[in-house]
Amino acid sequence: MKRLLIVYHSMTGAAQQLATAAHAAACDEVECRTEIVRAGDAGVAEVLAADGYLFVTPENLASMSGRMKDFFDRVYYGVLDQVNGRPYATIIAAGTDGDGAARQIQRIATGLRLREVAPPIIVRNGAQTPEQILSTKFVLEADLNQARNLGAAIAAGIASGVF
Ligand SMILES: Cc1cc2nc3c(=O)[nH]c(=O)nc-3n(C[C@H](O)[C@H](O)[C@H](O)COP(=O)(O)O)c2cc1C
Repeated sequence: MKRLLIVYHSMTGAAQQLATAAHAAACDEVECRTEIVRAGDAGVAEVLAADGYLFVTPENLASMSGRMKDFFDRVYYGVLDQVNGRPYATIIAAGTDGDGAARQIQRIATGLRLREVAPPIIVRNGAQTPEQILSTKFVLEADLNQARNLGAAIAAGIASGVF
């Protein structure tokens, strides 16, 4: 059975809710097994065992979160040349931007010769003040639906062999 791996990191909840929504929708695609793993717990073995990937991260200081970057740093050379052509997509939880994190993941994925199968989804919650940024996030249903649609689509694409 084909496998989708969802790797995520979250500090105040937004990316976690998006990853969980994508996971639930992906699991409805019965022919595809989907695993969801926190970035700190994901390593080379998990990446190699999967047929496709969904990366879900906050944008912190104009880049992906440190924990997510740590994941890529730890696995990059251990999986290089062994994942060529595998499909991936990205979801970014951001305050007002998110482009920097999306671009960074695209560059790393290009280096790994992964294949982007959907444009990055950037979910902006508008947080700007320290209080807003540090508060627990509650992602809107419309944004969760975007994550669900992406999770279902990538799982279906992997299961059917379209990707
Ligand atoms: C240290 C820090 C830096 C941040 N920098 C940015 C940024 O550069 N651009 C942006 O759009 N949001 C930024 N944010 C806001 C987060 O992206 C936003 O709160 C998002 O919900 C975080 O995802 P999480 O809830 O899964 O942790 C920052 C938040 C923190 C804590």
